[in-house]
Amino acid sequence: MSIEKVPSSSAQPPSSASSSPFELRKGVNGLHKVVLREVRGSSVEVYLYGSHVTSWKNDHGEELLFVSSKAIFKPPKPIRGGIPLCFPQFSNHGPLESHGFARNRFWCVDPDPPPFTNTLSKAFVDLILKPTEEDMKIWPHSFEFRLRVALGPGGDLMLTSRIRNTNTDGKPFTFTFAYHTYFSVSDINEVRVEGLETLDYLDNLRNKERFTEQGDALTFESEVDKIYLSTPTKIAILDHEKKRTFVIRKDGLPDAVVWNPWDKKAKAMADFGDDEYKHMLCVEAAAIEKPITLKPGEEWKGRIELSAVPSSYCSGQLDPQRVLQSS
Ligand code: BG6
Repeated sequence: MSIEKVPSSSAQPPSSASSSPFELRKGVNGLHKVVLREVRGSSVEVYLYGSHVTSWKNDHGEELLFVSSKAIFKPPKPIRGGIPLCFPQFSNHGPLESHGFARNRFWCVDPDPPPFTNTLSKAFVDLILKPTEEDMKIWPHSFEFRLRVALGPGGDLMLTSRIRNTNTDGKPFTFTFAYHTYFSVSDINEVRVEGLETLDYLDNLRNKERFTEQGDALTFESEVDKIYLSTPTKIAILDHEKKRTFVIRKDGLPDAVVWNPWDKKAKAMADFGDDEYKHMLCVEAAAIEKPITLKPGEEWKGRIELSAVPSSYCSGQLDPQRVLQSS
């Protein structure tokens, strides 16, 4: 089993001018987590294990992400819920373990983060993953994966991934990627997803065959596991009962996975409650259909920005298209 690395740099925030104050605490099973807070009250928690966001709360203290009550916070099992990072392979679309290994490795606080142009956010943390010799036996490439997790002044959650090929043998590498976000919803039957209608998708439940989505917004009444291709940069999840709309803005991530295991698969998962499928929906900004190739020295960047806005959609005051069109 791997040993948790908590380098001295993670015991306190880095001391550069751009550094952000954050708390490092012990979470479930003594695993270290970083806590970010924004002055108005919103907060985020990120486990160093997997660089895994496990909590995102708005300024009323309401949890916006789903984490299973049966999640196992014990390596090498990835945490069920929150935002697992899928790298260097999405799902079982390749020879590696499902969703790659970034989500079940110990990351470090980055002592030397790259400069960021967006300085609006005062609550952020920079994390880094580099492969061990063991990792290189299963994926023979040297890389630096840097993740910035930032909380905006209005409570928006921003994740920026930068992946660099640091191979010294001149070899390129190729990967697929996803931010596997589990959104908390009141009732899956009352949820609509806007922005993916009429698009092509690969259906994981039908041998990854390609189909075209029909009709209006997506609604849910059975298991879904689809990879929508070439999606717009904004997708909205409308939760009628909560009167809340999640808006996902993404950059560098053309695809979007929509997943809900529904009842049978839920029962088959040891780290997922039998009825919990009713209260979650994964909408995952991803790069899958066209894998990313980096030559030595090259870097890829993929970013998401998540907002939760109150919606009075039920009373017809909010046109979902306007949510998508507004900046
Ligand atoms: C989704 C995949 O992204 O993740 C599904 O599309 C998969 O096929 C699901 O079942 C959960 O994966 P895991 O490895 O976390 O159980």
